[in-house]
Amino acid sequence: MSLLMHTLHVDLGERSYPVYIGRDLLADSDLMAQHIRGIQVVLVSNDTVGPLYLDRVRAALGERTLITEVILPDGEQYKTLDTLSDIFDQVLARGHNRTTTFVAVGGGVVGDITGFAAACYQRGVDFIQVPTTLLAQVDSSVGGKTAVNHSLGKNMIGAFYQPRAVLIDTNTLQTLPRRELCAGLAEVVKYGLICDEPFYRWLQEQMPRLLAREEAALAEAIERSCTNKARVVAADEREGGIRAILNLGHTFGHAIETAQGYGQWLHGEAVAAGMVLAAELSASRGWIADSEVLALRELLSGIDLPIAPPADMSARQFMELMARDKKVMDGRLRLVLLRAIGEADIVDDVAQEELEALFAPSP
Ligand code: NAD
Ligand code: GLY
Repeated sequence: MSLLMHTLHVDLGERSYPVYIGRDLLADSDLMAQHIRGIQVVLVSNDTVGPLYLDRVRAALGERTLITEVILPDGEQYKTLDTLSDIFDQVLARGHNRTTTFVAVGGGVVGDITGFAAACYQRGVDFIQVPTTLLAQVDSSVGGKTAVNHSLGKNMIGAFYQPRAVLIDTNTLQTLPRRELCAGLAEVVKYGLICDEPFYRWLQEQMPRLLAREEAALAEAIERSCTNKARVVAADEREGGIRAILNLGHTFGHAIETAQGYGQWLHGEAVAAGMVLAAELSASRGWIADSEVLALRELLSGIDLPIAPPADMSARQFMELMARDKKVMDGRLRLVLLRAIGEADIVDDVAQEELEALFAPSP
């Protein structure tokens, strides 16, 4: 029996949609039916998540529906144009028309690629996100960023394309590897830091319950994270400005991911270390207290997340990798810093000396 615990809305005019959070929602046939307009469905998952959950999603879709299942190989390395093309081959071979709804059941990789497939298939069909990692539940399934990777860059080919609904089934987190859960918690902490101090303080108290995967605590953390994300996305859907605050720690994090080779550090792990660097830089400007940096380190290490870059990464390497990011940003390095806990700011005036001081070995 499913249990709907929270419903919130992403307000984007005619592209608005609900985000449902609760237990066993992926098996809730009424909820599915409300958001599937035609009789045709393409279910996309991968070879790890599919065997765990697809039977139940299929049952919830009912017998009248033409269902095509597309099972992708598991892994970021398959988030490519080739995989996208394989999806289209299978869906076209089954004769799916424009009334088809794509349903993504999986983590951010499955969600991003399925969203992009839905954006492109016959110039755009409906899609529903059923995210099964914490990271996908609090971040990638909400907000409409869809993409595949290119050999020259991550998420370089994609579209802003909003789902019709997001069904977050908290039960799926019970099978998630602990390391993935912790990586998702880094993004949860991010929301507190950038725009919600009361949530951050709540996280400092409630983290043991989240690590123990207590249902009510997880549902609340997801709801508060998604509410914050929905607010930012509603204000700036296409990241012309404020949406960039969602990238706290990400510029440092990308440098770490690139230096280590993708797959060595999980994205959330690199973001955790990046958030500490951003907090340190904010403290060096006198914006937040050193005690807050210390408290952030404690919170993240309690989640078994890294709180410093890899030991073998030099300051110079950081500068070079971040300069590449800088090129992407029209010649100015933009960083998200903290004016206070719960208040992020996007700055483009970070001096070379500030960065050098940040990476200088402590005396
Ligand atoms: P992922 O999709 O690779 O999932 C991580 C691992 O967990 C995979 O092996 C997956 O098969 C497995 N898994 C998923 N759900 C499970 C479950 N319930 N039980 C057991 N195993 C499960 O990784 P992710 O962290 O979810 O997503 C990362 C991707 O998301 C990246 O490609 C990133 O670019 C993208 N992303 C997109 C956005 C956005 O706004 N669209 C935001 C952040 C990240
Ligand atoms: N994950 C960042 C964003 O959705 O903008």
